[in-house]
Amino acid sequence: MTKLTPYEEFNIEIPETFPENTMSAGAAKAMVKSECWTDANPMLNLSSFVTTFAEPEAREIFASGSFRNFADPDMYPHTKDTEFKCVKWLHDLWNGPKDAEPYGAATIGSSEACMLGGLAHKWNWREAREKAGKDASKPNMVTGGNVQIVWKKFLRYFDVEPRIVPLKPGNYRLTAEHLDEYVDEKTICVVAIAGQTFTGEDDDIQEIHDWLDAYEKKTGISIPMHIDGASGGFVNPFLYPDYKWDFRLPRVQSINASGHKYGLVPPGLGWVVFRDRQVFNENLVFYVNYLGGEAATATLNFSKSAAPVLTQYYQFLRLGREGYTCIMKHTLEHAEYLRDRLTKTGKFHVMNETQRLPVVALTLDKSVTKYNEFDISNKVRERGWILAAYSMPPNAQEVNSLRIVVRPHINRNVATLLADDIERACDFLEVHGGNATPPELHPAHVSSPAKC
Ligand SMILES: Cc1ncc(COP(=O)(O)O)c(C=O)c1O
Repeated sequence: MTKLTPYEEFNIEIPETFPENTMSAGAAKAMVKSECWTDANPMLNLSSFVTTFAEPEAREIFASGSFRNFADPDMYPHTKDTEFKCVKWLHDLWNGPKDAEPYGAATIGSSEACMLGGLAHKWNWREAREKAGKDASKPNMVTGGNVQIVWKKFLRYFDVEPRIVPLKPGNYRLTAEHLDEYVDEKTICVVAIAGQTFTGEDDDIQEIHDWLDAYEKKTGISIPMHIDGASGGFVNPFLYPDYKWDFRLPRVQSINASGHKYGLVPPGLGWVVFRDRQVFNENLVFYVNYLGGEAATATLNFSKSAAPVLTQYYQFLRLGREGYTCIMKHTLEHAEYLRDRLTKTGKFHVMNETQRLPVVALTLDKSVTKYNEFDISNKVRERGWILAAYSMPPNAQEVNSLRIVVRPHINRNVATLLADDIERACDFLEVHGGNATPPELHPAHVSSPAKC
């Protein structure tokens, strides 16, 4: 093949089939980078909880860890050990009992962590039923309509009946109300959320816990709780140390969190931590011979980069409770500033009165008739901002939400610029009107409220 000049290389058409020839590293890099030019700027993507900023030292750790296979503890024992240290620290941060044996795992994200939590409860439930000589078919799991999609995946992939308590306009969290219609002896666990995706609120974890205590007294059926702390797991301990959402509640047997959200690590890292070693059913653990040693493996994924785990270890050491608390306080202040500025316009109401996370969830006042939340999201996109607009899940689907996830890299100046741009967008839309229609939900995503 005749050698192409760099100019010619850069101008080749991207082939439909697997590329035949080599090209220079510079040209390949330029092509890949240029394809991303019109993607969103991650720093302005406030629809996402995922970390988009790290100090140079953290980036260095991330880069140096990226060629270590985390699944190979025989070759990288010290790298593997950082996982255990982080699990132990998280067990402490989430107030696990001092006499318990901390156990957990680093995962690709909260999704994998939720699956592991759910599987542990399914296995434990089945084992207990079989031991008691009871029917161990048709397990179910109870959670709220505000649940993240991962739980619907878990329920379908692992054949657990969904018992999803629907939302209602004005209440977007799972509470103890109606639990009696959903919970029974086949419930493997109740999943409650600390920092839900839609409004950033926590479910009423204490109330649910106490209701399950009373249920056990009445029926003899003991149902454990899993807390989905994907976002709240790294906010609650620092901003609300006296708030009991975690292992201080005895029924809470497992917790997941996303290291790559408010854990302040680049994507992909999640954590699952169990109250005690025995909660993670031994039948879920495999022992493999790997490159000369024997290693336990209990995650869904095998090979993965060690980079996020090493970076989480770095962040824990670097920031400690002091640093995380300081960062979360500032972040929350900026969210409160945005919320106050926007509600003062009279155009918005906050949807998350019980808000703990630095998330601003707004819905338009009924007096605004010329445009909707989707129009605002579209309009500010012209300025580079990405704000999530969506219709709430059943049975609150008539309510639209405009959600701003405030992350630590947003300073007061940037929060001010965003508030200015949202106000300007509203002024423009008031004059010219909007025409966005909420996207229709795919039928597969509409959960049919499962009543027993
Ligand atoms: C409450 C909740 N659970 C689970 C997940 C899934 O987390 P991940 O994206 O880390 O897999 C999310 C993601 O937004 C979430 O908000």
